[in-house]
Amino acid sequence: MDRPVPFILLGLGPVGRTLVRQILDTHKAVAQRTGFQFVLVGIADSSGLMLEREGIPEEMLLKILQDTDERRKLNGVIDLHPHTKLNEVYRPGMIVIDATHSTDAVPRLKDAVEAGCGIVMANKVPLAGEWAKAKWFYDHPLIRYEATVGAGLPIISTLRYLLDTGDEITSIEASVSGTLGFLCTALELGLPYSVAVANARNLGYTELDPRDDLSGYDIVRKALILARTAGWPLEMNSLSSEPMYPPTWISQTVEDFMKALPSLDEIYAAQVRLAQNEGKSLRYVAHLTSKGGRVGLTPVARDGYIGSKSGPVNSVAIYTHRYRELPLVISGPGAGPEIKAAGVMEDMLQLANVLQNKLQTMNE
Ligand SMILES: NC(=O)c1ccc[n+]([C@@H]2O[C@H](COP(=O)([O-])OP(=O)(O)OC[C@H]3O[C@@H](n4cnc5c(N)ncnc54)[C@H](OP(=O)(O)O)[C@@H]3O)[C@@H](O)[C@H]2O)c1
Repeated sequence: MDRPVPFILLGLGPVGRTLVRQILDTHKAVAQRTGFQFVLVGIADSSGLMLEREGIPEEMLLKILQDTDERRKLNGVIDLHPHTKLNEVYRPGMIVIDATHSTDAVPRLKDAVEAGCGIVMANKVPLAGEWAKAKWFYDHPLIRYEATVGAGLPIISTLRYLLDTGDEITSIEASVSGTLGFLCTALELGLPYSVAVANARNLGYTELDPRDDLSGYDIVRKALILARTAGWPLEMNSLSSEPMYPPTWISQTVEDFMKALPSLDEIYAAQVRLAQNEGKSLRYVAHLTSKGGRVGLTPVARDGYIGSKSGPVNSVAIYTHRYRELPLVISGPGAGPEIKAAGVMEDMLQLANVLQNKLQTMNE
């Protein structure tokens, strides 16, 4: 018999919206395979919260998704509650998903855990904040965050499995940006940097402001999440990073920034040539150890586990006491809302098992 698992979704951007569609599209197959039936009882964006305690009917959900397309807010479509109303709804066994992009929802997440709910994070921001505050997310048994690095690839669960079986992680090398992977491949094919960035932007691989990707900041966040999961409580300032534009360009308009890019073409063409002359590939890589790390463009072996991958493929190589000579490598497409939403769903399934066992124990 299907066991209903109520859940609440915070955030209706591409990831949240794709997750809703994916759950609607797959609920029969998932229920048949796992016995769990996910029931969406609440959705929220920054304008407020919509609740339907018995579950939002499918037709209503589809209409809401349609009416909030193009970044229209929920409060323009339907009457909403304030986010604080969540505290009245939380109950043990429920799952709350954070698909927002800030720390604003953290108080709501803490209340949820307090009430016996599980949390699934798609949002990296709270996990990459200062360790004293972020520690809670890593330590709590009812919090999952697989989709924050490598989207649907089993990277976080592999790090945890290694630690749980008594291994010790010694270093990690990671290429975890689909966008910069795409860019590096375009540079290797001989495209000027300015053209490669414009193409990536036109194809939707970068944010509207490509500096959000080219700063490398998002990769520093992912690197910090990897390091902390590996058991190294690093802070942001223990990782050096290398933006792919001069720091003074930060204050330019996006238009001026795009116009200025050709002046960097020769710099990046020279870096590609240098790597190629050494028989190497240029990739944007994070190198991490317990002491800290570096995130930036790096020449890597052309036939290695990172250099041999092209386009928006993510690769993470984990060196441990057991995987000393050859690393354990996880590799595959790691970008895009579809894959990311699937990563969130996998976390939901894992948590559903834990939460149902907890409920059963409470009822015995
Ligand atoms: N898109 C991807 O492929 C991708 C890839 C890797 C990682 N991620 C991460 O996954 C997360 C979600 O991605 P996204 O692209 O869907 O993000 P997004 O486009 O920034 O959307 C964020 C959503 O959160 C809502 N929100 C903001 N504050 C809130 C609050 N306090 N309570 C409830 N909702 C709130 C926003 O509402 P308003 O619209 O009203 O502001 C918006 O609906 C982000 O952290 C992102 O970094 C996404």
